[in-house]
Amino acid sequence: MTAQETTTQPAGKPVGVAVLGMGTVGTEVVRLLRENADDFTHRIGGPVELRGIAVSDLGKDRPGIDRALLTDDALSLVNRDDVDIVVEVIGGIDYPRELILAALNAGKSVVTANKALVAAHADALSEAADNAGVDLYFEAAVAAAIPVVGMLRRSLAGDRIERIFGIVNGTTNFILDAMTSTGATYEDALAEATRLGYAEADPTADVEGHDAASKAAILASLGFHTRVNFDDVYCEGITRITAEDIDAATKVGYTIKLLAICEKITGDDGEEQVTARVHPTLIPSSHPLASVSKSYNAIYVDAEAAGSLMFYGNGAGGDPTASAVLGDLVGAARNKVHGGRAPGDSTYANLAVADFGDVPTRYHIDMLVNDRTGVLADIATRFSAKGISLRTVRQEEQERHSHARLIVVTHQAREADLRDMVAELEASEDVQKVSSVIRLDG
Ligand code: HSE
Repeated sequence: MTAQETTTQPAGKPVGVAVLGMGTVGTEVVRLLRENADDFTHRIGGPVELRGIAVSDLGKDRPGIDRALLTDDALSLVNRDDVDIVVEVIGGIDYPRELILAALNAGKSVVTANKALVAAHADALSEAADNAGVDLYFEAAVAAAIPVVGMLRRSLAGDRIERIFGIVNGTTNFILDAMTSTGATYEDALAEATRLGYAEADPTADVEGHDAASKAAILASLGFHTRVNFDDVYCEGITRITAEDIDAATKVGYTIKLLAICEKITGDDGEEQVTARVHPTLIPSSHPLASVSKSYNAIYVDAEAAGSLMFYGNGAGGDPTASAVLGDLVGAARNKVHGGRAPGDSTYANLAVADFGDVPTRYHIDMLVNDRTGVLADIATRFSAKGISLRTVRQEEQERHSHARLIVVTHQAREADLRDMVAELEASEDVQKVSSVIRLDG
């Protein structure tokens, strides 16, 4: 078969589905597939049949599941002739990549919730899907059932996306929200998130921003028709945010959120470039994103014709993720029955990914300085010597009169210049300590 050709099921033949992985999401996918089988038949135009479920532990008790469906040989299940669509909800990178490529190369469509895999290997996956003329769907990879992938791929396909930004990680939003609303420390808020089951036993991927960075890579790629991989995304997590940072922000009407920000900028050569980044960000407390509480997600999309759109909802968990997987499954199955393919990745714009040092950002710098006459003027001079304009400067008296707390908010400047400025402040004899540096948006 040549690239782009698609095949249809023989009339009346059920679409065979294999589910790889039976954790929280896989269990819910299987349950909904069974319970809503009649609805799916109507929506698809033919029946769907679950051919098998790949699990790592065959001995585990799985109430209500026909044991004959279970296998621990995922690759053989993928390669079965009666499997037309493979749903991957295992997680990880190398093993699911092998299984998904095997499925695509064998002409099976794939639905995956795997953001880390899509963000790291989108080119290889997309090429395999194109070569086989099958679908590769991954709505569940970004913010679960919030339909942001489908919106970028289909609903806004005729528009030009300027900026995509928002809260795409529920665990870190829960932690920052708890710190903001109760004054809790980072450690206590993380412990609470773990106790309530939001944070994993190993919370690294969430709190270091890696999960959000994978989502940012996917959103930027779709929005800007340019391949942006995980490694292209600047990523900084929330582990250094303190109760003092939250308090200082609140006092001046700001809220700290972990934002994913994907945008187009103009490079020095006048050409458009793309940038994607994830970092704690101060936003005005009046901004709608500031009131996104608990583990909710919210994403803004600024499009040339559509204007500013906001998508809000539960971005994680078994049920919402399964909902997104099933929506994709209906699409893939419809294409198997009726022919055609869903819009795939388009990277025609092929814009350069900007060096993060060249991206315009704004800093909120909290520091302790020597309390001597002229220190404020000297520090302001250092900023202006670097061409960095100051928006506000606030001084707070400290108990020890040898110190003053200085909080500086800059206007936009090159990220690299702002970083150099912080290094210069840290080296200055007048600055006893740069307590925190947080970027600002809006
Ligand atoms: N762990 C993620 C979150 C959900 O907390 O939002 C899966 O990406």
